[in-house]
Amino acid sequence: MKANDNEVVELFKRKWNEPPEVVVRAPGRVNLIGEHTDYNGGFVLPVAINRYVWVAASRSGEKVARFHAADFGEDDAFALDEIRPHPRHRWSNYVRGVAWALLKEGLPLTGVKAVVGGNVPIGAGLSSSAAVEVATALAFQVLSGFQIPRERLALLCQRAENDFVGMRCGIMDQFASLLAREGHALLIDCASLEYRHIPLPPQVAIVVADTGVRRELASSEYNRRRRECEEAVLILRSRWSYVKSLRDVNPASMPGWEALLPEPLRRRARHVVGENERVLRGVEALERGDIEEFGRLMNRSHSSLRDDYEVSCPELDLLVETAQATEGVYGSRLTGAGFGGCTVTLVRREYTHTLKERLQEAYRSRFGFNPDVYELIPSAGADVVSDIRSYE
Ligand code: GLA
Repeated sequence: MKANDNEVVELFKRKWNEPPEVVVRAPGRVNLIGEHTDYNGGFVLPVAINRYVWVAASRSGEKVARFHAADFGEDDAFALDEIRPHPRHRWSNYVRGVAWALLKEGLPLTGVKAVVGGNVPIGAGLSSSAAVEVATALAFQVLSGFQIPRERLALLCQRAENDFVGMRCGIMDQFASLLAREGHALLIDCASLEYRHIPLPPQVAIVVADTGVRRELASSEYNRRRRECEEAVLILRSRWSYVKSLRDVNPASMPGWEALLPEPLRRRARHVVGENERVLRGVEALERGDIEEFGRLMNRSHSSLRDDYEVSCPELDLLVETAQATEGVYGSRLTGAGFGGCTVTLVRREYTHTLKERLQEAYRSRFGFNPDVYELIPSAGADVVSDIRSYE
């Protein structure tokens, strides 16, 4: 996605010959640590980023939603009383799914006309889909005049993706997009949905490197990992009846738990159990200012995702290994679901440029092109853009 807010608003004005009633924006996210733990009731530590999806919208006076996607130059229109998946446009299924989930919840939706667009890279593991969902949900909320807590809105966006789009994602992305705070990471307990904002040290830069690899298989492999975790839980529960998710596995009080599981379930569960512990230790480290320790935990997270969870790929591994060997780097790992997409690296600010050069050089010489490498700024959660007149 490449559109910016001005373009989204301009497109709206051109299409409908009037300014939009509302403009909302929702950020993507980068996850610092806690991967594939959210759907296991575990802990995650994402950061909302300064890459957004904007929705410019007005009420339409009919029971129809009309959306134009700035980044694809495509239109979609659907009646609110009968929402089915679009046969071709993937983007519109996130929009339709959100309307579907809000209506299913009994919320009164007004018909809308809207333009959606943004600059969160698609399929890069930075949650462009959650940003589209959240921006759409907020626009519907403002225009329809209902008000629900952000936690509930996040759950409804997740339901859209789970039950309408068919991707069984956890709650991390939607939650981060709605509840993050500027300059902070967001610790989420995905079982209770309690959360806490963790301040990030300003001298540390968050750098993302994009492999450019986009795999369609990601969602089927993702759903398969979820199933494997569920199977592991069933086996462990037959011995320890309190185990309702991998979050409940406590190695200290469950001797021999790993041996009970056949491969690959054993490796999958080992990743999740270890990763939850790494998140909690990572937060403790951040809170006492020990970024070195946080970085080491990131590095271990990557090894575990590569070897036990098996969601890495040679392109991600090369970027991570190169970063880890670069001066000034605290830690580096794949971020998001894996199978391609991006790595995230924490680096001392003054080494950001060196890191970028190293990553591009190493990647180019092995894979033949320069990957996108850029710094991301920890940003606030989704909101209504208050001063619409700034676009006039
Ligand atoms: C995707 C999903 C998230 C989470 C991550 C892996 O981004 O949308 O819910 O499971 O993968 O940590």
